Parts: sequence; structure tokens; C-alpha cells
Amino acid sequence: ETKVTAVDQTFPVKKTTASRLQSVNFSDLRFGDVFSDHMFELIYENNSWQKGKIIPYGPVNIMPSANILHYGQGAFEGMKAFTMENGEINVFRIHDHYNRFNDSCKRLNIPSIPEETFTQAILQLVDLDREWVPSDKYKSLYLRPFVFATEEFLGLKTSTTYRFYIITGPVGNYYREGINPVKLTTMPDYVRAVKGGVGNAKVPGNYAASLYPAHVAMQQGYSQVLWLDAIERKYVEEVGAMNIFFVIDGKVSTSPLTGTILPGVTRRSVLELCKLWGLPAEERMISIDELFAAYREGRLTEAFGSGTAAVISPVGVIHHKGEVITLDTEKMGPVAERLYATITGIHHGTEEDPAGWCNII
Ligand code: COI
Repeated sequence: ETKVTAVDQTFPVKKTTASRLQSVNFSDLRFGDVFSDHMFELIYENNSWQKGKIIPYGPVNIMPSANILHYGQGAFEGMKAFTMENGEINVFRIHDHYNRFNDSCKRLNIPSIPEETFTQAILQLVDLDREWVPSDKYKSLYLRPFVFATEEFLGLKTSTTYRFYIITGPVGNYYREGINPVKLTTMPDYVRAVKGGVGNAKVPGNYAASLYPAHVAMQQGYSQVLWLDAIERKYVEEVGAMNIFFVIDGKVSTSPLTGTILPGVTRRSVLELCKLWGLPAEERMISIDELFAAYREGRLTEAFGSGTAAVISPVGVIHHKGEVITLDTEKMGPVAERLYATITGIHHGTEEDPAGWCNII
């Protein structure tokens, strides 16, 4: 039984005088190019987070010398809200996203934002722009909380001032392929993260560093890079825009969180659902050679990615040093399909919430 929470009107609101809602074509949504009418803004100065407010979506003024523009002291989250079958709105796993955001802030020496502030801001903003939450089962309102350092100083040091925003926008599928399988390639000359670095934090630099290898991969006809570990260049880690899962010998397997991989909230949901279903699932080091051997022996039956934006995205092709694994290139395999149906069902309230994942407003 899910509980509907009344949203506290904690923050002052300056409403837009010109809503853009009518100009949005909700039947043709891609990912990340449409933004809702309002955003949340919270400023850190004089050693503390000030009172937040909701204002119209619009430009943010910062000085050209701001830390974020040079040294990248910032962090972000990716979350989603859904229209449920009964018309209520579900914001998915806020607490887990907050915890990860807080961990990212810690790693970048950014002052922690209280959980209550984060949660109330999300709920009040989504509630205000609730007409922006698509009602279609395969669409959602993407939420992007982010924080960045604004101090005007070119010496390298921790900033004393920050801004935190939440922007939102209706989205469809993340990949151009829709829910059709994507093609991955390894890029053994490049690495995403090393242990002790920031690979397990959701920070801009990780994504910026992936862009050149991703560009090369795209020129070769692949849509994403499958990252290998930085030391041995042997173990599969993640895809950058999503975590990666394989079904080997009927067992669901994904790389362990050893510090170089983003601890995905959808990754966690997949592992928790497998446990609930009694489906064997494990977190273990998986070498690229093992994958190819399992493929040749017919034991590798599925590969799929998980992520907030990607949800469950099947992988049809994996290329590594001239060799290719070709799985189903037309559709999802049965395990991915079951996970996709269940997770989207939980999002939209047609499947039972297994463990307090839904925040209903
Ligand atoms: C998300 O899945 O929410 C992300 O932040 C990944 C990003 C590449 C869109």
C-alpha cells in the first residue's frame, strides 16, 4: 500500500508569467532537450546554505573566474518522476539519490546539503510543474539536481561559495535506438577511472573525459564505450551512461563496486529485484576474455545496461580488439524484458513497490 504525501510548501515560489507547456510535443520526446517552467535555486555563502526558492527556468549568472568553469568542483544527480496509472506522481528512490549526491559532494569537498532540503525541494518543484510529467508509460520527467562552486578565484582551492539547482524536463528514451539493442566497443587505449579517483562519484569530469573515446567509438559505428579497468585493462566496469549486466549460465552478473564504478540506483534495483525473485545474481569481476569465451560456448545469453536515463537498455553487440559478440540485435532478452517490465511497472504503479522505492505526491 503506497502512501500519498502532502507536499509542504517550504520554499517561496516566483511563478513564470509565460508557461512553455503548450509548446511541447509530448508525443515526440527525446532526452534532455526540453525543460519545465521552473527550477529550484539554493545558494551557499557565509559558511552556510541559505534559504532556497523556486523561480522560472532561466539563465544562471556566474563570474568567468568561478571555480566550476576551471577546476570543475561540482556534482550532479539524475532522477525521474512518473505519472502513475491512478494519476498520482511517483518520484523514484529519492533517499538513494540523495545519499549518492551527498557522497559525490563529500568527495569533491562540497558542503553537504541537508536531506530534508533536497527532498522537499524535489517534491515541491515536481508538484508545481506536475503538468510537465508525461502520462505515457514509456516517458517520464527527468530531474537533474546539481551543485557547483562559484568563488571567483583562480588559485586551486576549495570554493567558499556554491549554487545548487534542480532543473527538470520531460523525456522519452535515452538512446536513439529506443529500446532496441545498442552496440558497444571497448577502448583499451583509454580508461574511465582509477581506484581512489572519482569514478564512483557523479561529477562532471568523468563524463567530460569519456567524450573523445566516445567520439572515436561512434566513428567506428558504436553508440557507447564499454570501459575496462584501468590497471589490467581486462575487467569490464561500466558504460559511462549506464552500469552493465550480463546473463552467463543463467546467472545475472555485474561488476562489483570497487571504487571505479558509479553506484547506480537502477543497478541496485536490478540486484534487489533478482534477490526478491530468487534469480541468481552476483557482483563479481568479469573479464572481457571470459565474456568472449562464454559467448563462444553459448553460455552468454544476454547483456544489458541499467541507469536512470537508460532504464534497462539491451546490448546487441560488443566489440573488442577486432572480435565481436553478437547477441539479439532486434529485441531485449527475457531477463532484461522482465526487469524492464517490472521496473517501469513499479514506476507507474502497476507493479507493487517492493521496498519503499516510491514517493507519491
Ligand atoms: C542518468 O542516467 O541519470 C545520468 O545521469 C546519465 C547521463 C549520461 C544522462
